[in-house]
This record gives sequence, C-alpha cells and structure tokens, in this order.
Amino acid sequence: MTLKVFLRDSLLGVKVTLLYSIFRGLDALTRSVLVENEGGEPFYLEKVLSACVDMDDRDFEMLGLFGSWARERHIQRMPLGYGRQNIASVKGESSHQEHPFLALVTPGTSQESGEVYAMNFVYSGNFIAQAEKSQFNSVRMMMGIHPEGFTWKLEPGERFTAPEAVLVYSGQGLGRMTRTFHDLYREHLIRSPYLHEKRPILINNWEATYFDFDEKKLLEIAEDAAALGIEMLVMDDGWFGKRSLDDSSLGDWYVNEEKIKGGLHALVENVKKLGMKFGIWIEPEMISPESELYRRHPDWAIRIPGRDITQSRAQYVLDFSRDEVVDGVYEMIAEVLRSADISYVKWDMNRQLTTLGSCALPPDRQGELSHRYMLGVYRMQERLITDFPHLLLENCSGGGARFDAGMLYYSPQIWCSDDTDAIERLAIQEGTALIYPVSAMGAHVSVCPNHTVGRTTPFETRGDVALLGTFGYELDITKLSEEEKVLVKSQVEKYHKYNDLIREGDYYRLASASENRYYDSWMIVEKDKSRALLFCVQVLAEANAKSRFLRLKGLDPDKRYLAEGKTYAGRTLMHAGLRIPAAFGDFKSRLIEITEASLL
Ligand code: GLA
Repeated sequence: MTLKVFLRDSLLGVKVTLLYSIFRGLDALTRSVLVENEGGEPFYLEKVLSACVDMDDRDFEMLGLFGSWARERHIQRMPLGYGRQNIASVKGESSHQEHPFLALVTPGTSQESGEVYAMNFVYSGNFIAQAEKSQFNSVRMMMGIHPEGFTWKLEPGERFTAPEAVLVYSGQGLGRMTRTFHDLYREHLIRSPYLHEKRPILINNWEATYFDFDEKKLLEIAEDAAALGIEMLVMDDGWFGKRSLDDSSLGDWYVNEEKIKGGLHALVENVKKLGMKFGIWIEPEMISPESELYRRHPDWAIRIPGRDITQSRAQYVLDFSRDEVVDGVYEMIAEVLRSADISYVKWDMNRQLTTLGSCALPPDRQGELSHRYMLGVYRMQERLITDFPHLLLENCSGGGARFDAGMLYYSPQIWCSDDTDAIERLAIQEGTALIYPVSAMGAHVSVCPNHTVGRTTPFETRGDVALLGTFGYELDITKLSEEEKVLVKSQVEKYHKYNDLIREGDYYRLASASENRYYDSWMIVEKDKSRALLFCVQVLAEANAKSRFLRLKGLDPDKRYLAEGKTYAGRTLMHAGLRIPAAFGDFKSRLIEITEASLL
C-alpha cells in the first residue's frame, strides 16, 4: 500500500508528492519523491533527496560498505560523531568504492541483537547517504541522488521523480535486517522469470583466454565443460569489431569473423549440439576512440566541447542521455542477439563518467546528464528484457561497481567482483549478502594461483564459496587435471542438490573472518526449517587448535535434526553448537547438510 502526502508551495507553483509504500509482513518501507511544476515559469531543482528520517541519537554507530576494484563491499562500522558524515559516489555509478547503503545501529549490535535503521537506494548512479548529528543530539539520516553536479530544469507542467530509497528496521540485529532485505528484493524488486529458477551452470572464458581465443578454443572449452555437466558457455570480451586487446572496437557490435570463423550462428549451433546454451558479453555504454562508431559519431561520447576526453581503459563513455545513442547501440546489439540462439547476456560497464558534457543538452540542462544517463541505461535494459523475454541478463561493472538494487530490477544476478579468489570472496560476499539475496551474487570457480592475488586454495573451497551465489566456472577447463575434473563433477552435483535451498532459503551469518581472522561461516535455512546447509571456511590454521563449537542459527528449537550421522535437538545445535574439528592447513572448507530427522 502506498501513502501519498501532497505538499504545495503556491508562491513558486511547486507540488511535491511524498510516496511511502509498505509491504505485508516486512519491516520495510520505500520512499520516493515526485516534484511537479504547476506554475507558469520554469525552475531548476538543485537537490532532491529521496528519504530523510529524524531521530534522537541512541549513541548510534554507522555501518557502510566500502572497497575498490576487486575488493568491493567490505563492511565498515564507525562511530557517529557530531556534524555530517556521508557515503557517496559522484562517479556516475554506484561504484566499487562506496555503496548506496547506510545503517545506523545501536551500540553492540550483533547479528542477533540491537536495533538497526538501514537505507538502501534503488538506483545505480550518483548518490549520497548521510547521517548528521546535531547540537541537540538529534540525528538526521538521508539518502538520494548526489546534489553535486546535479540540476534539473522543470518547465511548467513537467515532473521529476526521485528514485526510491528502501528503509528497513530491525529490532533483532543485523541478521534480521539482512533477511528483510533479501525477502523484500526477492518478492518485490527482482522481476526476472529466472528469479526462482536454477540458473544454468556457466563457464566463462575470460580468465581462461582473456582476448586470445577463437571459435576452436571456445568449442574445446565447451566440449570438456559439457562432459562434466556444465550447462552454458559464455563468450566474454573480444568477439567483436577488431578487438584483440582492450584498446579498440567498443561500439562496433558485429562479430569478428577472423576470430569466430564461420560466424556466430554456426558457433552457437555447435555449442548447442553439445547440449549447452550460449551466452555473450557486451559493454553497450562504451565507445573506443579506435572504432568505426567513434569515427562516425564523435559527438556520441560524453565530452566537453574543446577539451580532451579523459580515457580510462582506453575508452570513452557514450552519451546515454540521448535517445538516438541508446537506440543506435540497441539496434546493433539486438541484431547480434537475433542472429543466433543466445540465452544469456553479461552487460558490463568498465569505467566511470568524467569530463561531463553532452553535445545534445542545452547549457542549462547539462546538470541533468548523469541522471539522464542512468535513465537511458535503464531504458535500454528494459527494452532488452522485453524484446528478448527469455534472456538471462547478468549485470557487471568492472566486477561489482554496479551491484545495486537499481540493477536488480532488470537482472536477477550481478557479477560480484573480478576477484575470484575464494578467500578474498569471503569478505566481498559477506558484505554483498548483508543486503542482497545470495541468488543474485555472480560467483565462479577459477584457477590457482588466482589471477588477482596469486593465492592457491583447495579446489573444494573454491566450489563451496561459489555455491553461495549463481555458481559457474571461469577457467580453462581443458587444462584441469583428471583429479580436478572429478571435483568439478561433484561440485555440479552439489549445485543441483542444493541450489533450490540456497536460492530460496534464509541466510544466517555465523562468523566473519574479517572480524576473527581465522574462520568464516554462514548458513542457509529452508523457510520451513526442515533443512539447512552449514558452510565453514577455515581461513588460517592454528597450532594446537581444538575443535570449535559452532552455534547454529535459524533452526526450529523443537525439531530434531540429523547432522553428520547424528541426531540433535534444534535447541542443542543452536545453544551448545555443532562440533567442527580443526582442519590441518589453511583455506579448508566444509559444507554440512542438516536435515529434519523425522523427514528421513
Ligand atoms: C570486466 C569484467 C570481467 C570481464 C572484463 C572483460 O572487468 O568484470 O569479468 O568481462 O571486463 O573486459
């Protein structure tokens, strides 16, 4: 249900509608703002935040998610002092570095106890999330589009809608907040027909080949993958234009037939003959200076006339505030998608917005560029999933720079991070799952030494960590040893056995290696509490260590459960704990299934 509060400034002729929506059974509400010009003259909006809450201070601490490329969404807690503290992005994307999420928590808040007031933004562009503590010890918490660089001209009769902010309350710690966000997003935000489906186990060739591949190499990978039960081949960056490095061809969305000999259709048909689906990588928002598209349309890039455009990864950003740019790129990509049976698209976005200027906007509307850009991105994604309703869309942005609720409205999954190291992923996935359903987290098994950090971890651990997400592979499967191939088969089996539970269940955090240094643990519990999965990763081994009793969460205290061949009362597992023997060696993982005893 939505409550609308109407406000009117008759002097200026401004009408503001505040929209508050509530959701049955969830301690959440959303808030957005609609501004209308009912007067006779144009005016300029300079700041339109989406939510604002005033409270008395409760010695709040502030919780946010911070990081960088390959190190996204690490949880950070800090005291809330006097003055203003904010978390923000003016990079044109929700960003690797700071995240459109802010929670104020009472002192000592844990997973189970303490009060939490959280805000998350359903938006993928510039944002500010701010907490302000005043002289009277009152606290104001706000979230919205970042006012820096923003103006919006409203002509008489025009309206502006600020994106929705989601507000969640928990009186039972962070765990409860997490589960409210997960349920809210699964029930009310993610629309994809794949939301409640087991996604095909994919193998992506990026870390296997980078730009160095042809159709033969891809088919070799597909053949070995199919034999092990992998269900979809994803052809990553490098298949189009003249692209053989990251320095050209973005915008030239046609197949490079020197690489993909015989064309895309033939490749896809050959992959399908192996019983696999086929997916493709695109980066629609970008243009390489070295491209046919740029030679034809230099004004399509975001730029300030007369100034050099800053290059990043040797590319410029397309001006998606312009319909003709969005439509032009869309047509090229749609043609590729129509030319072969493509089941999946990975939509990437590999640089931030700089040298902000649009060749099409008049001077007094230049401040609209960043928001119009986001609306253009959303428009194209809407068109894509409408015209190709069976397409499984995965968003991505240099890893996880746009893992946000705005994107989840269009795609049921988002690539979480370019860092595929299982140990680095613990903190990244912990921070991401603090808000977003694990069914949305793109997670793959890759080779060791890991390409980002050089670490070697057991193959089993890499599989267990990737199971807490969409699950897939990102390696040259033709180079795996026979032993590793056997492990792939058993991981594929585990995926099929457990994915329904992992995707639809309740997530509980038991321990965080970011806090304790030694071990990480989480659980997924079936909604009816009849079954659960316990994951434990021993990050560092300790000398002379004794077993650890892990106190489980989310079970029914009155039910009896079977775990590792023994039965226990739910209350025993939750209060006394399950004994987890110390393992010999670092990076060891365990996955334990817990089933209601009477069901066996
Ligand atoms: C980004 C993505 C990677 C890969 C490369 C290709 O970094 O996050 O997964 O697709 O681009 O250039």
